[in-house]
Amino acid sequence: MACGSMKSFFPGHQICQSSGHLSKAKSRKASVVTCALVSHGNTSTTTNSTRSVVEVPLDIQTTSNFINLSRSLIKKKLESTDLYYDQGSRDKIGNGKFGRDYVGRETPLYYAQRLTEHYKSKSSSGEGPEIYLKREDLNHGGAHKMNNALAQAMIARRMGKTSVVAATGAGQHGVATAAACAKLSLECTVFMGTKDIEKQSSNLLLMKLLGAQVKSVEGNFKDATSEAFRNWVNDLENCFYLNGTVVGPHPCPSMVREFQSVIGKETRKQAAEKWGGKPDVLVACVGSGSNALGLFHEFIGDEEVRLIGVEGAGIGLDSGHHSATLARGEVGVYHGAMSYLLQDEEGQIVGPHSIGVGLEYPGVSPELSFLKDSGRAEFHTATDEEALDAYRLLCRLEGIFPALEACHALAFLDKLCPTLPNGTKVVVNLSGRGDKDADIVFNSKPTQL
Ligand SMILES: Cc1ncc(COP(=O)(O)O)c(C=O)c1O
Repeated sequence: MACGSMKSFFPGHQICQSSGHLSKAKSRKASVVTCALVSHGNTSTTTNSTRSVVEVPLDIQTTSNFINLSRSLIKKKLESTDLYYDQGSRDKIGNGKFGRDYVGRETPLYYAQRLTEHYKSKSSSGEGPEIYLKREDLNHGGAHKMNNALAQAMIARRMGKTSVVAATGAGQHGVATAAACAKLSLECTVFMGTKDIEKQSSNLLLMKLLGAQVKSVEGNFKDATSEAFRNWVNDLENCFYLNGTVVGPHPCPSMVREFQSVIGKETRKQAAEKWGGKPDVLVACVGSGSNALGLFHEFIGDEEVRLIGVEGAGIGLDSGHHSATLARGEVGVYHGAMSYLLQDEEGQIVGPHSIGVGLEYPGVSPELSFLKDSGRAEFHTATDEEALDAYRLLCRLEGIFPALEACHALAFLDKLCPTLPNGTKVVVNLSGRGDKDADIVFNSKPTQL
């Protein structure tokens, strides 16, 4: 498969292997490289049908085990996961009784009346869109992450695994995984970056109380992910890697998207019940992409429905400190898939930054990368300051405290609402609750209210 084509963002069944810190596919055209990286000692040759397109030196320490193993053992393991995933999705794993009684589905589609009035009052005509919130913050565990974690933990049980390994950034996926493992009697190890532990300590405590072993890794989410992969490959027989978002090698992106697509399916049904139509605009924050794809996927074929993803602009897009992978990244291969990536001229990964810790990942969903290139979805950004203001605003107007990640989607309403006709139905994915972020927001200086 030619990875430079649009289709190539979908990982397929082969392993699109990361070269760790050296990931750049120089341009969209030059990125016509295969998803197989052939290891040559200290270098790796990315090949297409004509072979030997780009020679890249490999960072042995970060990649050698994973690359070599991925082409044999890991590939087999992922294929067997694929098999169980196919069986599982036929059984509607995770969305049945467990989904209702344990996760708390379906989550409400909530009319945010005071937020709607706020934006109407800012317009000279007194008109504006109607804003609805998809309340994923009301899921058990406090975020959309539980939809996927529980379903994958059930797959792990079916495959006869005894332990689960995961990586977490903001801690929401860690909490969801730890809870699902407690419920299904699986051993659980969660890797978390030292920087994230500092910022999201309440989630660290919850994971421990839920019985997970939490291992700290120098750095942040990307480093925790690499370490979780390494840990997993040491015991492929018994251990299941529970991926929290729509990145990584196949079947992870499509499997996670499938389990999160319950968000969009419910939204369609609820919109029909509430106003007898579809939403006009869907808005979601984008870290790696799971809550956005979860909402968008159901509506991709409804061309009249606008799909808007909002990334973290951090302290400014030109500052170099942001998480705007789709806005500012270039195509590359990382952690097993091809997507837009934050990388420098040499193809070295550039560390992402966002006040929403869960947005800090240098890659992004291959499928969202495709939706960007095809023009089906639009992508915008919101800064740390704008997200903090959105947190305060939702607290004061609706009595709801949103996760800082979701605040990026809310913040974009400032720019979006004045451009929309009266009565436009906007659905914002409220991907998580923000108690984990209360001290960050409380201790930051408000710019406005
Ligand atoms: C509440 C919440 N929203 C959004 C995200 C971003 O992840 P994704 O883009 O996969 O939805 C995270 C990640 O931790 C999160 O905790």
